[in-house]
Amino acid sequence: MTRRLVIAVDGPAAAGKGTLAKRLAAALDLPYLDTGLLYRATGRRMIDAGLDPAHAPAETFAATVGLEDLRRTDLRVPEVDRAASLVAAQPAVRRALVDLQRRFAGVHGAVLDGRDIGTVIFPDATVKLFITASPRTRAERRWEQLATNPDAPDREAQIIRVEQEIVARDAADSSRSVAPLCVARDAIRIETDSLTADEVLAEALRIVADMTR
Ligand code: CDP
Repeated sequence: MTRRLVIAVDGPAAAGKGTLAKRLAAALDLPYLDTGLLYRATGRRMIDAGLDPAHAPAETFAATVGLEDLRRTDLRVPEVDRAASLVAAQPAVRRALVDLQRRFAGVHGAVLDGRDIGTVIFPDATVKLFITASPRTRAERRWEQLATNPDAPDREAQIIRVEQEIVARDAADSSRSVAPLCVARDAIRIETDSLTADEVLAEALRIVADMTR
């Protein structure tokens, strides 16, 4: 019997986890789950209800989040970046979202990207990747994804603001008491500063092939 393949892709904000995980899943014919969207959807629901994610409990909102939320188009905006990180620090929110993530990999396996996939959700994942890049590289990539005007005269100032935001979010994600962002003991790090998306995918596929031989 072949073993169910679960691939954990963790790392800091805007490191390119999503790009890699999506392409890896397609190449290996596995389902793909962006777990950040579950925390984003929880934060979004709180904002929509007029509540402050920094202070109000978010558990009841997390409990109603489902796979249909992943189709929402209003989750990748700066106010939701912050709200997601705030609700993700609440232990009850994390507990409410564990089963959904584990069931997703079900019998077929999956590629999942997030912060705690290799440490908490699937500590026995077949392959654990930790994707990183410098804050500057990550800020440039995120800015390019979101920028409405690539020739904006204040491009540099905008990138600096994005960098400050992702550094602050990484600090919050790394210092929280539950499921902090950290490298699993048995994870393989891929530093992506000087790699293209194709090169990161090739490296990840090589690691997966090595570990599943
Ligand atoms: O795309 P980006 O790297 O900016 O963020 P994301 O993966 O969508 O995650 C948004 C926020 O959700 C993070 O800053 C974390 O606080 C939280 N998160 C988490 O705590 N655990 C996960 N498995 C995934 C995301």
